[in-house]
Amino acid sequence: MAAEKVKVTINGQVYEVEKGRPLIDVCRENGHAIPSFCYYSDLALQASCRMCLVRIEKMPKLQTSCTITCTDGMVVTTQSEEIEKAQRGMVEFLLANHPLDCPVCDRGGECELQEMVFDWGGLEERFTERKNYYPEKFLSPMVANDSQRCILCKRCTRVCDEWMGEDAIEAGGRGVNTVIGTYGGWLNCSQCGNCIEVCPTGTLLDATYRHQTRPWELSRTVSTCAFCSDGCQLSLGSRAGQLMRAVARDRYVNGLNGEFLCIKGRFAHPFVNHEERLRTPLIRYKKGGKLIPATWDEAIRYTASKLETVANATGPDSIGVVGSPRLTNEANYALLKFAREVVGTDNYTATDAFSLAPFFENIAAPLATHRDIRHAKTLVLIGGEPEELQPLTGKQMRQAVRNGGAKLIIINSTPIRLIHRATQFVHIRPGSEDTAVLALMNEANIETAARKMGIETGEFETVRRTIEETEGDCIIMFGGELSPAAQKVVAQLPFSFGEKEKRRFLFHPLPLYNNSLGVHDLGLMSSRVTASEMLDAAGESVRALYVAGSFLPQHLAGHEEALSKLDFLVVQELFETETTRYADVVFPAASFAEVDGTFTNNDGFVQRLRQSIPPVHQSKPDWVITAMIADALDASFGFQMSASAVLREIAERVPAYRGIRYPILKDESKPAQAKYPLADRRDMTPEIEDLRSRVSKLGETAEKFTETPRVGHELFKPGTLTGKVPQFHLLAAGNPEPPSVLVSPLYQITIDKDSRRAAVATGD
Ligand code: SF4
Ligand code: SF4
Ligand code: SF4
Ligand code: FES
Repeated sequence: MAAEKVKVTINGQVYEVEKGRPLIDVCRENGHAIPSFCYYSDLALQASCRMCLVRIEKMPKLQTSCTITCTDGMVVTTQSEEIEKAQRGMVEFLLANHPLDCPVCDRGGECELQEMVFDWGGLEERFTERKNYYPEKFLSPMVANDSQRCILCKRCTRVCDEWMGEDAIEAGGRGVNTVIGTYGGWLNCSQCGNCIEVCPTGTLLDATYRHQTRPWELSRTVSTCAFCSDGCQLSLGSRAGQLMRAVARDRYVNGLNGEFLCIKGRFAHPFVNHEERLRTPLIRYKKGGKLIPATWDEAIRYTASKLETVANATGPDSIGVVGSPRLTNEANYALLKFAREVVGTDNYTATDAFSLAPFFENIAAPLATHRDIRHAKTLVLIGGEPEELQPLTGKQMRQAVRNGGAKLIIINSTPIRLIHRATQFVHIRPGSEDTAVLALMNEANIETAARKMGIETGEFETVRRTIEETEGDCIIMFGGELSPAAQKVVAQLPFSFGEKEKRRFLFHPLPLYNNSLGVHDLGLMSSRVTASEMLDAAGESVRALYVAGSFLPQHLAGHEEALSKLDFLVVQELFETETTRYADVVFPAASFAEVDGTFTNNDGFVQRLRQSIPPVHQSKPDWVITAMIADALDASFGFQMSASAVLREIAERVPAYRGIRYPILKDESKPAQAKYPLADRRDMTPEIEDLRSRVSKLGETAEKFTETPRVGHELFKPGTLTGKVPQFHLLAAGNPEPPSVLVSPLYQITIDKDSRRAAVATGD
């Protein structure tokens, strides 16, 4: 339904705008600047800074434009002597206790308070009293705090509550002694750093980067996060070939995540310049011998000749090629092309945790975007744990409920943290997620399904009723717990609820990695073998493997010796890993910050990675390495050293990417979505029978998990990449409070590094 329009006059100009919109937004969108500190779009109103004052005809006093909504006939003035005098007075109050130490403040150069004072100039400061003084301290290994710079806008406390659902920081004290802090003095939260990001001043600071550079010394590159499948856009700040920081500050980047990042996106980037990065190509000339540094020419020639020998001896299909959901579409496409066109093998796959091929083959409704999630009316989450594995999705879900009044149904065997925002939590037995799909598909299945899930039948009737009654978007989300048959049935769920004029079904699958969707789209996950099967066949039908990235811990579990049985193993990686341990050749690959390329996120958005720093040491982009090996085997890829040429070829060959080119991916605020063809209604009888037979075999005694997993139990685990950041080890060890909060906890606490690789689910 089209929103009602009203006429508003701003500074003499008449605008037709949506009734009820915040006046401050309407003024700004139409070029009438309004200063503000506490207003933050899409957060609950605070209305404390009184900077956004305007004069509205027929209203007795100046009004705060952030709290006023547009009504018909409103006549507004945003600039006048009276308004500026009031605003200057407010800034004078804000500066009464402010130390004015911009030259040593990390935020100097990008501080909103500093900017406002500079813009106006000539501000009076009539206060002569002694200013409050607090020492600069650590609130956690990630968050530092300089209380005296605070202007009490409470953006930080609101993002912590509304975005993160944590309420970890609050304002304490009274009057001029009010300070932002945390209960007990030490932050035991998810360490997202969003409070730092939205702080307009230098009060909350990135403790891992503090005092390292000034903002104006940094070269800034807009790129895509290299961790989970949410695909947050970030601004990488580099200086002299070093990656210094990652922020989502909206003056630099305007992506689907706004200013949100999670701990990994914001703080895990130091792996890029870590001293343990592989420096040169390495060759192990003799099985059981040492890896020895080699030149690129030598390593490429050696690899090509070994692959040729294997292909001649045991046939092309004895060579396996393994891509990675960590790497760009361009890198994975080059591998696929190498497998099919250079080697001529059908043995290719990618090291993802699960395949979404059964879902996409049957998908009956479009993918939801993160914006759709924020504005949905009903969210149904089956399995998964987005707050730990896809944190931006988790944040959108919390806001949909908290700020949008959405209904959230969680069907899970574990009381994950998100249940605190849920309208309904259906607590099922572990391993019975497929059963939930069966019950969603057809009411007739509810009775048996409820018995297997260990719930009352009424619980699922409520779930179905909520979905049926939804007016607006109903988004179905699911994690990796669903079997392929259940994925197929879920994909066709919209048909089982029938059509309703005001309801729209959307899907939001929850794969684990930054390019899980990309490897699916390229066909690496619908190949005839999985990564585990490839390892099963190692030393038997598979004699050589070409692996980009590494196998996940879950692939290697039970296959520890598989790689040692190969005649030849070539790996391209950033670091030495369990996969490089038996490699005959290791190529140093460039990280996400050193390459151009694209990742496809869980919205289906194909988003750009841009080179921020030159490749570290002798590393090269993965697709370049593949093209070099192909060249050595007399098969030129013809990409002319340009990642855009690779994407052009992808777009020509992958129907969902038709028309996608680098020029249309220029603006991160307008991402391009892959076009997944929607499936017609299919006969699901075989899949439903398959599910019924699985469900009938399920026991009815499994105990449900009753404990809510602790915050960060996945996010903090130090893996191959995050393990290079010492602060992650502190957090994984329980984030102990150091004896003094004035000194970095890194200097005060020693962590046993041997415990660091314990079971990292995502392998990050
Ligand atoms: S780091 Fe994140 S969770 Fe922790 S206090 Fe800040 S906003 Fe809240
Ligand atoms: S710490 Fe920053 S964001 Fe929080 S109230 Fe103070 S100035 Fe505002
Ligand atoms: S939510 Fe995912 S994409 Fe966003 S910053 Fe975190 S890990 Fe990166
Ligand atoms: S922005 Fe309106 S009162 Fe702060």
